[in-house]
Amino acid sequence: MVTRPESLPTASVLAVPHASLPAAQLDSVLESLGVSSATWLPDLAALTRAMLSSAPALVFVPVPEGGHSEAFAAFGDALRRVPRTRAIAISGAKDADLVLAAMRAGTHEFLVLPTDDEALRRAIGRVQQVGSAGETLGRVYPVYSAKGGLGCSTLSLSLAWALAHRRPGSRVALVDFTTTGAGVRVMLDLAPVYDLGSIANRTTALDREFVRSCMVSHPAGVDVLVAAEELDATEPLGAETATRVLEVLRQQFDHVVVDVDHHFAEQTIAALDVADRILLVTQLDISALRSAQRTLGVFTRLGYARDKVALVANRRTDRDRIALEDAERVLGRAIDVSVPNDYASCADAITFGRFVQEHAPTSPMVEGVAALVRTLTGDAAPTPLEARPGGSRLARLFARR
Ligand SMILES: Nc1ncnc2c1ncn2[C@@H]1O[C@H](COP(=O)(O)OP(=O)(O)O)[C@@H](O)[C@H]1O
Ligand SMILES: [Mg+2]
Repeated sequence: MVTRPESLPTASVLAVPHASLPAAQLDSVLESLGVSSATWLPDLAALTRAMLSSAPALVFVPVPEGGHSEAFAAFGDALRRVPRTRAIAISGAKDADLVLAAMRAGTHEFLVLPTDDEALRRAIGRVQQVGSAGETLGRVYPVYSAKGGLGCSTLSLSLAWALAHRRPGSRVALVDFTTTGAGVRVMLDLAPVYDLGSIANRTTALDREFVRSCMVSHPAGVDVLVAAEELDATEPLGAETATRVLEVLRQQFDHVVVDVDHHFAEQTIAALDVADRILLVTQLDISALRSAQRTLGVFTRLGYARDKVALVANRRTDRDRIALEDAERVLGRAIDVSVPNDYASCADAITFGRFVQEHAPTSPMVEGVAALVRTLTGDAAPTPLEARPGGSRLARLFARR
């Protein structure tokens, strides 16, 4: 099970003290760049924890003697999970092995200490340039539920369509990270030459062109990366590759929608980690709500901020046995969007290999997905929901963990 430590306040620069990098020097350079002073952590393990929970803009990480230590390896793993964070490796020695070890850990710059203010400023400037591409980075939205059958795949597809039609020229990618179920390939009746299997089994670098060449353009304006057809014949994607795929995609698409498995496979966690917003799908029934409640607990342990999650109640009907207010009370938070139930339209769309919006444009479900897009993009604020006072039997039932 994945656990992540206590949350720490968001800080944009984190550092571990180094005998040859005085705090006063770093802070004055940061100040001259208009950045607030660094937050200092006692050791590498603490830095790693803080980095995972606050995804800072920049970290200063000391390279251990000889270039290797368990804590440094753990730091490297963690760095891959916070792709927007830039890392400057610091060391008292300029040694080829140390530089190589720092590169392998994924750091972006190697700084030999002691150093003067100008060199320090230049090093920060260089990593910021790497990061400045990030201003135009697209947003990543994995669609997740711990329980299958609640509508993750259906919502992934229709969300991708809706984002692609939000405004002219919107660039949208739909990625299928699932390993069970029909998959986007079947749901959209696609027959691509390449798929995620080509990426997992690749022997070349995983750059933009390669990832792009593995995708298929749907005429609806969505570029799709389908799951591997023969999973047995394919290497598992792994967290590192999954993260890299999403990173490369967000450099060229405005929105990247990811359909993920209902368990914490490595690629699922990679997508959840990288996400700008996780769509947590539930329904207004006991078992789906219980599952969502547990998932919210896991997300907290993973260190995800509350705002990182958008809670979606799918398949809403007038006949739902559980009131929205009761559901919100047991979940301890608002449901951000409700998507109406329309089984015929959803099922028929799959049968015909089409997007719901194209098959049944007047379906109430389509309006629900449009509302979901507004919530994600901030085009309109979600409707505030009043909490009803008093405790129901249901609330008490869920309170018992
Ligand atoms: N809003 C909805 N209204 C009616 N049926 C839906 C809706 N969303 C999904 N479904 C149906 O629910 C079933 C499960 O959906 P699916 O997207 O495959 O779930 P998951 O990917 O989470 O397992 C499918 O038959 C789908 O057509
Ligand atoms: Mg599915």
